[in-house]
Amino acid sequence: MVAVAPDAVGPRVGPQTSVAGRSGSLVPVLRETGDADLVAVSVRKAGKSVVADRHGDQVAAAYGVDLAAVFEAERVRGGVGEIVRVPVLAPVGLPRRFLLVGIGDGTPKDLRRAAAALGRSARGRHHLVTTLGDSSSADGARAVVEGLILGAYTPPSAGLKSRAESSPAAQVTLVGNHPESGLDRGRAHARATVLARDLAETPANLKSPAWLAAQAAELGAAAGLEVRIWTEAQLIEEGFGGLVAVGSGSATPPRFVRIDYRPEGVRARRPIVLVGKGITFDTGGISIKPRTSMVTMKTDMSGAAAVLATLLACPEVGVRRPVTGLLPLAENAFGGDAYRPSDVITTYGGQTVEVLNTDAEGRMVLADALGYAVRHLDPETIVDIATLTGAASVGLGKRHGALFATEDRLATALTQAGADSGEQLWRMPLVEDYRPVLDSAVADLRNVTGRGAVTSGGGSIVAALFLREFTAGRRWAHLDIAGPARSEREEYEVTKGATGFGTRLLIRWLESLR
Ligand code: BES
Ligand code: MN
Ligand code: ZN
Repeated sequence: MVAVAPDAVGPRVGPQTSVAGRSGSLVPVLRETGDADLVAVSVRKAGKSVVADRHGDQVAAAYGVDLAAVFEAERVRGGVGEIVRVPVLAPVGLPRRFLLVGIGDGTPKDLRRAAAALGRSARGRHHLVTTLGDSSSADGARAVVEGLILGAYTPPSAGLKSRAESSPAAQVTLVGNHPESGLDRGRAHARATVLARDLAETPANLKSPAWLAAQAAELGAAAGLEVRIWTEAQLIEEGFGGLVAVGSGSATPPRFVRIDYRPEGVRARRPIVLVGKGITFDTGGISIKPRTSMVTMKTDMSGAAAVLATLLACPEVGVRRPVTGLLPLAENAFGGDAYRPSDVITTYGGQTVEVLNTDAEGRMVLADALGYAVRHLDPETIVDIATLTGAASVGLGKRHGALFATEDRLATALTQAGADSGEQLWRMPLVEDYRPVLDSAVADLRNVTGRGAVTSGGGSIVAALFLREFTAGRRWAHLDIAGPARSEREEYEVTKGATGFGTRLLIRWLESLR
C-alpha cells in the first residue's frame, strides 16, 4: 500500500508563476505595483560594447545608478543568460533588488534562455517586474514566458519541507510591448510542460497505471476532451497482448487510455494519432536492470506525459486537426506472473513477438497502441514518443531527441517545430539492411537483436524498425527521447530531473497544421 496520501505529491493545476503583460514605462509601473521586490532590465551586445533596453536609463536614474559605470566595473557583456546584480539602496517605493539580464542577439531562443536564467534568479522572490522581451515579436514574447516559468520550475514537494526560498516568484509583470497572442501561447506551452514534468516527477509508488489513467480522465474532462480507459480485464479480453505481458509482473495492473480532441468548425479530416510510452517504473523485469540505471526509471512514462499534456493544450491553442492520444500504461516489474525471456506474445494487431529481453518493454506496449491506431482510427499520421533506448542518448547526448520518419516532409516539419520550441531533434535513418536482426525462428519478430546477428549496435535504429512493423505502412514518425527526457543539471529552461521534453514541440507542430 502507498504510505503517502496520493494527493500529497502529484501534478499541480498550472504553473507556480502567473505572468502578466503591462504597457507603459517601467518606473511608473513599479511605483503603481508597490509589491515588486525585484526589477530586471535587459542588456544586449552592440558590437564591442553593451547597451541596456529603452527602460534601462530611466530605472537607473530612479536608483541613482550610472549604468555605464556598472557595465565597466562588472564587465557586463550582455551574453545570453548573464545575470548581474546591481547593488542599490532602494528609494521608498522601488524594489530592493535590481538585476541586469543579458539577451545576446535577442532571438526567441536567446530570449527563452535569458528568461530562464532570470526566472531562476527570481526564485524566492514575490513579484518580478521586468522589461525582458519588450518590443519583440509574438514568438519572442512566447519564448520569454516559457523561459520564465520553465527555468524556475521546481518539482512538487508535497509541502514536506519549506520550499519558499527556492520556489518560483508568484508573479511576473512584463513591462513594455509584448504581443498578447505570444503571451497566451507561452502560457499554454509552459503550463503543458509543467504538467508533463510534474507527472514524470511523481514517484512510482504513487503513480500506478490506474493513477495515471485517472489523472488523464480528470484533466481530460476538465479540458472538454473525451477520455476512455481500458482496465486489465478489458485489455486481456480485447487482445492487448504486449501491454498485458509487460504489466503482468506488477502488483499495479496496466491500463490503456484513449483521449480524443475533435475541433469544431473545421472540415472533417482523418486524425493525427499521438502515442506515448507510459511505463510508470521500469525495473527491466526478469531481465533486471543494474541497480544504478534503475533509479531514474519513474520517468519512463515521459512520452505518455508529453502526449497527455499535448492533448490537454489542443483546445487552448486552437489546433485545427482532430487529434487522438493513446497511452499504454504499465509497470515493468518482476512478480511471479511476469513475462519472461523466450515467451511468445501475440500483439493487438495479431503479430507475434518472441521476447528475448524483458527490458525491451517499451516497444511491446507501443506495438499494441500502434496496432490499435491502425485498426480503429484510420490515422492520417502517427507520431509516437518514447524513452525507448539508452542507445539514442549514447548517440545524440542529452539535449537532442532521435527522430525517425517514413517521410521527409513529416521529418522536416517536426525538426522545425523542435528548433522553434527549443526542443531539438536529429533525424536518424531507418536502415533497411538492419531489419533481419529482428527475424525470429518461432514468431513474426524478436524484440531485440539476436546474438550472432551480422549487425550489432544501432539500438535505437533497431527499436524504430521494430515499431515500424506495427504501423501498416502509415505516415509515421518516432521520437526516441531517452536522452532529453531528463537532465542531471539545470541549464536555461531545462531543470534537473524530468524535462517534459517533446510537449512543446508536439504542440507547436500541431499548431502549424492547417
Ligand atoms: N526505459 C529504457 C530506456 C532508457 C534507458 C530510458 C536510459 C532512459 C534512460 C528501455 O525500456 C530499455 O530498457 N531499453 C533497453 C533496450 C535493450 C534491452 C534492447 C536499453 O536501452 O538498454
Ligand atoms: Mn526497459
Ligand atoms: Zn523502459
